[in-house]
Amino acid sequence: MRVNFTVNGRQQEADDVWEGESLLYVLRERMGLPGSKNACEQGECGSCTVRLDGVPVCSCLVAAGQVEGREVVTVEGLADYAKHREDAHPGGGCASGSCGTTLDAAQRWQAGPADGQSGEAVELSPIQQAFIDAGAVQCGFCTPGLLVAADELLETHPSPSDQDIREALSGNLCRCTGYEKILDAVRLAAARQEEAVR
Ligand code: FES
Ligand code: FES
Repeated sequence: MRVNFTVNGRQQEADDVWEGESLLYVLRERMGLPGSKNACEQGECGSCTVRLDGVPVCSCLVAAGQVEGREVVTVEGLADYAKHREDAHPGGGCASGSCGTTLDAAQRWQAGPADGQSGEAVELSPIQQAFIDAGAVQCGFCTPGLLVAADELLETHPSPSDQDIREALSGNLCRCTGYEKILDAVRLAAARQEEAVR
């Protein structure tokens, strides 16, 4: 079957998708977007987390056919997504990552590093920068899933309690950090976000 969907704000199609193929497989193996990691393929580790119509999901558990006509944001698109949210929906969320784009802006659109292909330097999203600044990345394998989940948390809970953070990230396993630095990173991003709206 052919699947048409949007990835990081761009329309994509995947051909000859078989019924048992996961969204994670399509992203990594067909689209060359290796940011979403494949660790357990059972919905246990969260390393494959992406947003599907704005909701964080384990992409290993989503059949590719289920994403027909829907919007996916991966860690490769996180910086653009956060910027779009900041510009178009200050203080709010956006399910599409692409709404609010004027026709003029759309016509001037050029492929950028958010495609995950060019490797050029790109401005990081606030949560990505906070992970770096707080030293929350060790081997980095769990990081993409954590970033996507944490970014969604900060969108819906701009001032999360520690309990909120723990709950939001409870589906994401990390073997390296002991989680304290990850919690620090989310607290840091939240504090910076609060500072910015003052
Ligand atoms: S690879 Fe999807 S949850 Fe582990
Ligand atoms: S940083 Fe290594 S698994 Fe989390």
